[in-house]
Parts: sequence; C-alpha cells; structure tokens
Amino acid sequence: MRGNGRWQIAIDGPAGAGKSTVAKEVAKRLGILYLDTGAMYRTIAYKALQEGVPIGDEAAVSALAEDIRIEFSADERVWCDGLDVTEGLRTPEVSKGVSVVAAYPAVRRRLVELQRAEARRGGVVMDGRDIGTHVLPHADLKIFLTADPLERARRRWLELQRSGKNLTLEEVAQDMAERDRRDTQREMAPLEEAKDAILLDTTGLSVETIIERVIAMVREEYR
Ligand code: DC
Repeated sequence: MRGNGRWQIAIDGPAGAGKSTVAKEVAKRLGILYLDTGAMYRTIAYKALQEGVPIGDEAAVSALAEDIRIEFSADERVWCDGLDVTEGLRTPEVSKGVSVVAAYPAVRRRLVELQRAEARRGGVVMDGRDIGTHVLPHADLKIFLTADPLERARRRWLELQRSGKNLTLEEVAQDMAERDRRDTQREMAPLEEAKDAILLDTTGLSVETIIERVIAMVREEYR
C-alpha cells in the first residue's frame, strides 16, 4: 500500500450534491489535505465584484486572476491577497457570477495550475467539476456525486438559511439549475463524469452514510 502522502482522490458533481461537506470530512479522517476548488473560482468572482470589474468582461477578469494569491488556512478560512474572504464567497451575487468566470479559459488555466501545484505537495482530496476529467486525470479514485435536483436545491437552501440568507427555495432551485446548465455546457473542462469514476447518488442518504461509503471506496482502493 502506498503512503497517504501520495493519495489522490477526486470528487466531482453538480452543485448541492454534498461534495464539499463529504470531501472535507473524508480528508480529515484520512489525514490528508482537502482542496475546495469551487472556493477558488468563487474567490475570482468575489474579487471582481469587490473591485468593480464587470463579471462579463473576460479580459479584465482574466487579468485579475493572473496575479491573484489564494490561500487556505488550517481553520478552513480562505484568503485572497492576504485578506480573509471566507464570508463573502457564498453570497447570491458570487454564486450567480461564479459560473460565468469559471467558463473563461485563462481563469481555468491559472486555477488548474495552482490546483496541480497543491496536489504535488502531498495526499489530497480535491472536489470540483473537472477534477477527475482534467485536473487530476490520473487520480487513484474518482467519485461522481449526484442527487435529485430538488434535494440538491433544498440542501443549498437550508445552508443559506442557516447563514441568515433569506432566499426562497424556488430562487435557489432556479439559480442552481442555471449554474448547472452553464457548468455542463461550457466549452472548456465542463462538468462531466469521468469514464473511470464511481457514481454515487446521494438522494435520501445522510451525510454520515455518504462519508462512510466514500471511506469504504478509499479502503478498497488502497488496501
Ligand atoms: O462547488 P461550488 O458551488 O463552490 O462551485 C462554484 C462554481 O465554480 C461552480 O458554478 C462551477 C465552478 N467550478 C468549476 O468550474 N470547476 C471546479 N473544479 C470547481 C468549481
């Protein structure tokens, strides 16, 4: 068995499938790094909004991504150019803009470079949309998480409620459907299940059950 310092686990899927909650906990139990690539795309959208750069201005957003510094601290905070931006990444404005900036090739090239650099540092669980297909095509284990669209919207809505954001379930479902459409249809590295991924439908499953199933797959892979 290889030491966990070389493990590469890719978790992809649409919004609200449970990727980050599951990936974070799995990484913790395995004692390896967790990298939330969605947060990196969100940081680009957040910075553009902060600086008054129009989300639709591809050249300006790409330039902004070129020299951005994104860091994750052990306490799960996200830092952009030295500032803690964690609270700003889940606002409806960022959620709306992020799938637009994530379709820009220069933004993707830059972030994929940073993601691969993180994976070279040691064992990693990485979650996103294109990890198994593009970022880590040789990952040992690729999992594609899905769930019924209504359940995915409900999970995201509950998350937003808990953080004090009062959107209706219909608004969340609509935004999510729009984001999934853009993520699936974009030209570069769209959301897609890798041919060698294991599909896990999380509809009706508790978070703990999903984590246990993923851990069982990991044990099987590295036995
Ligand atoms: O997982 P999330 O909701 O935080 O992701 C935010 C957006 O970033 C999502 O709309 C798609 C994009 N994304 C991507 O294109 N590729 C990734 N590897 C991760 C996220």
